[in-house]
Amino acid sequence: MTTVLKVDNLSRRYATGGDVVHAIDGVSFEVRCGQFIALMGASGSGKSTLLHLLAGLDVPTEGRVVIDGRPIAQMTDRQRTLFRRSHIGFVFQSFNLLPTLTAAENVAIPLMIGGAGQRESREKALEFLASVGLEGRSTHRPAALSGGEQQRVAIARALVIDPSIILADEPTGNLDSRHGEEIWQLLRRLSTEEGRTIVVVTHEAAGAAYADRVIVMRDGTIMGEIPTGGDIDAAGIASRYQQLAG
Ligand SMILES: Nc1ncnc2c1ncn2[C@@H]1O[C@H](COP(=O)(O)OP(=O)(O)O)[C@@H](O)[C@H]1O
Ligand SMILES: [Mg+2]
Repeated sequence: MTTVLKVDNLSRRYATGGDVVHAIDGVSFEVRCGQFIALMGASGSGKSTLLHLLAGLDVPTEGRVVIDGRPIAQMTDRQRTLFRRSHIGFVFQSFNLLPTLTAAENVAIPLMIGGAGQRESREKALEFLASVGLEGRSTHRPAALSGGEQQRVAIARALVIDPSIILADEPTGNLDSRHGEEIWQLLRRLSTEEGRTIVVVTHEAAGAAYADRVIVMRDGTIMGEIPTGGDIDAAGIASRYQQLAG
């Protein structure tokens, strides 16, 4: 299987009034095509910083992020923006849908930005809304959708460009447990049935149990990994996580 993402000795330091914060401190790992990874860690452990570096939304102080063989930190800002638009699907905790647009129009945005025609964008948007189970909701605006439905629209928007990798920052953090579980099941299905490569930041052991691998972070470093898929359940992951994250 090919490697989609390679992270090599990555560091991100912030200088804040004399102090230096090592938000990410020498992180290395690889993600193969079709893998579903959960990234766990306490608040402040560097999860969002790492995800932003993977997405090219931030640049590292040291090290490399290689996606599809392309080192994105070494690109110019313009190159990285174009690369991100065509290779990376990002899902936010707060959905980030545009409130005045319908579900279909929100999903079509990345295609329109990429220069696709209106008709083609609309057809693709409807196809991807159907793929996340929202065929009946295409003309609804975000306010008329439940949180779980809004997040599924956001996932369809991330998928519509056929990205090399999907990155999600606590995608179930604003949802109740039932809607959260639907999102985890959807992500699992996208990986298993469509071969999507997915990295999700979370602090929910029950959600992480859906992933193929759980990477545990603490103070900007990787403390270890919890393999799933065997006979480990959410409680087992929670207890291994406590040992690793401290
Ligand atoms: N822009 C910034 N400036 C200074 N410090 C930051 C900045 N962003 C994050 N940090 C610090 O880096 C550390 C990791 O933050 P973050 O990646 O947001 O953690 P998490 O997502 O795991 O809660 C924290 O100590 C945080 O305060
Ligand atoms: Mg965070």
